[in-house]
Parts: sequence; structure tokens; C-alpha cells
Amino acid sequence: MKILIKNNDEKMSKEAAKIIINQINIKSNSVIGFATGGTPLGLYKELIIAYNEDNLDFTQMITFNLDEYVGLPKSHEQSYNKFMWDNLFNHINVKKENVNIPDGMVSDPEGFCKEYEKKIEEVGGIDIQILGIGRNGHIAFNEPGSEFDSRTRVVRLTEETIKDNSIFFEDIHDVPTKAITMGLGTIMEARKIILLARGNNKSDAINKLLNGLVTKEAPATVLKNHKNVTIIIDKEAAE
Ligand code: PGA
Repeated sequence: MKILIKNNDEKMSKEAAKIIINQINIKSNSVIGFATGGTPLGLYKELIIAYNEDNLDFTQMITFNLDEYVGLPKSHEQSYNKFMWDNLFNHINVKKENVNIPDGMVSDPEGFCKEYEKKIEEVGGIDIQILGIGRNGHIAFNEPGSEFDSRTRVVRLTEETIKDNSIFFEDIHDVPTKAITMGLGTIMEARKIILLARGNNKSDAINKLLNGLVTKEAPATVLKNHKNVTIIIDKEAAE
């Protein structure tokens, strides 16, 4: 694992953006796995700058998002679909048909998850997957206890995750209790992985990832078994 410690969010975001921009420059039809949450927002701003100022062309890029809440329509203020369009996709020239985000409203979630996996396979797999990390060590919504070979599926969120995410909702009871998430096995098949973390509330999870044993109780530790992972963190998360 390559570990880069940066002074602040802007430097972290620029570093991550450099890797993505380089990938798109080398292969215009790259398959990029995107993540939601507060952490990658700076990275998305940098990608928008690359589009506006350096004419980076995203028309061939294919995207797959990590997860989505079950029960929230795409238009919901807190849906990850809306997050991605508001914070990135509406501001670059990505093609709508190349964007893949799990749909939390499907009537057959199991069939949908199988189809999602098939789509990733059909485009040749993910070139770069962007990840955040939860305080409990989750990546995407693979909560502690998730199997390392798990695939895209419906999961139940832990109390801790519901509490962490409740800051975005009016009431904690409005936070969905289930989500569709790419599995750890799915994520591990990405050719390259970039994990971003900032703030001292992530330092424990980062410590476990860098210094702890590979265990299902800290799902991110599975990344130690991957050949091409870059971890970009700020000083607080590195503490
Ligand atoms: P955050 O979420 O970027 O909002 O901290 C990360 C995560 O829970 O995976």
C-alpha cells in the first residue's frame, strides 16, 4: 500500500485528482468507481476544474457508484444518485448512459445487484475505485462482519453508521436502515484503489487499516490483500 499524508483537504483532493485525470488521459473510456460522502467532495471539485479549465473529456468515461440507500428515490435530497449529479456529473460532460448508480427503489433488489455485477464485468472491470472509510472501518456499506468475497447486495446499516449519517437528515428515524452496496469482493477486483480519509475521527480506522490484522471486523483491512492501493489522508487522520 502506498500511503500519502497531506497537509489539508485541498492537497489530498489534488493528489487524488491527478491520478484520475492521468487515468482518463491514458484511457478515455476508463471505468471509474465513485464514492459519496464528505471526503471526496474536494476531489470532485478538482475534476470539474479539469473539465472547465483543461478541457478534460469525460464523454467516454464509464462510472459505477459504490452504494445507495434502499427506499430513497433518485430525487431525494439525500440519495447518492442526487449527490453524484449535484456534485460532479452535472458539471462535466459525462454521458448519462455511462453512469451507473445502484437504484434503491427497485422492486427486485437481488436481480438488480446481479445485473450491476454483470455490467461491471461487461465493461471489463473497474480501472480505479475511489473509497472513503467509515469510523467503524466500513468501505462502501460493507459493515463489520462483511465477507471478504461479498458481492453487490442489500445490507443492513449498523447503528453507528445510521448515527453518523443522521447529520444529513432532519431526524435519525429518517435515515434508511438498508442499502445496496458493492461487495468487498467486487471492490477488490478494481485494478487500482484510492482510499481517502480526513479528520481525527478517522484516525482509529486508519490505524487499524495500516497496523492491525486483516479481519472482517475492520472491513477496510481487506485492502491489505490488494496489489495497488493508494491511501491519501490528512495529518489528523494520520495521527
Ligand atoms: P465521509 O463517509 O466521507 O462522509 O466521512 C465515508 C464513509 O462512511 O465511507
